[in-house]
Amino acid sequence: MAVDVVCVASWNVDLIAHIPQPLERGQTRMAQAFDRLPGGKGSNAAIAAARQGAQVGLIARIGGDDFGQMGLDLWARESIDSQHVLRGAGETNGTALILVYEDGDNSIAVYPGAGAGLTAAHVQAATGMLAQARVVMASCEVPLAATLAAFEIARAHGVLTLLNPAPATPLPDALWPLVDVLTPNEGELLMLADAPDIETAALCLLQRGVGALVVTLGERGCALFRPDAAPLWVPGHAMQVVDTIGAGDTFTGTLAAQLAQQSPWPQALRWANAAAALSTQAQGAVTAMPARSQVQAWLHSG
Ligand code: RIB
Repeated sequence: MAVDVVCVASWNVDLIAHIPQPLERGQTRMAQAFDRLPGGKGSNAAIAAARQGAQVGLIARIGGDDFGQMGLDLWARESIDSQHVLRGAGETNGTALILVYEDGDNSIAVYPGAGAGLTAAHVQAATGMLAQARVVMASCEVPLAATLAAFEIARAHGVLTLLNPAPATPLPDALWPLVDVLTPNEGELLMLADAPDIETAALCLLQRGVGALVVTLGERGCALFRPDAAPLWVPGHAMQVVDTIGAGDTFTGTLAAQLAQQSPWPQALRWANAAAALSTQAQGAVTAMPARSQVQAWLHSG
């Protein structure tokens, strides 16, 4: 099956406890609720793209345990191609420990488990799938060598590359010129550029070789920065937030699907903003991720 979007993906099971406020060091509290739900920035973005109508393929390494099987079952339900997903026999799957607070904000600790074993050789074995895609995306939850290998193959075959630099981590000079589209949130952008404001930081990363930068700003929307073009600010949506887990991944995956369909930037960003806003309307990363028809109906009704 030909795929439009390939995701070099992390797959975590999210163990989510709801407490009123952040814990203090050394503090124990009784949680008000608990959920065990699908997560992982890569898998989340892949599902967002698939729900927007893209044919999606994964390159990933998952545990040999029940959590690994959960991923395979989920991707089968979402019609995502998992032929390049490897299982580490006897290895623990990626797991995210998440605290959600009463204002909808959260804190997350990610243990990558088997995902840390994803290598460049594993990615290179999927060259056929990468070379015929329209967009190849990754996040900083997968090993950097895997992302570099995927983006080098993409570049050699004229495939658009998209990096969600989350969780924010220092990145090597060799990566920046291989990134066609970067989707940091505001905090990640300022950290990566070591700059005091959005405009300065965006210029800095464009000068390092990034092709286009989209900073996500929550309910303030997003802004697109490109060399030799005026910034494009796209307003967001004020929502009664239930849960923001996965909203950034929904934005990235939806943007990937839109770019794979060769939508113009204003439409692609409007669509990604809307999908991310809708994704905040239920608990967990993928529960409320909308289908294309839902985004369309919501945008037309608003
Ligand atoms: O972006 C949200 C995701 O971050 C969660 O699903 C969790 O698994 C972590 O990867």
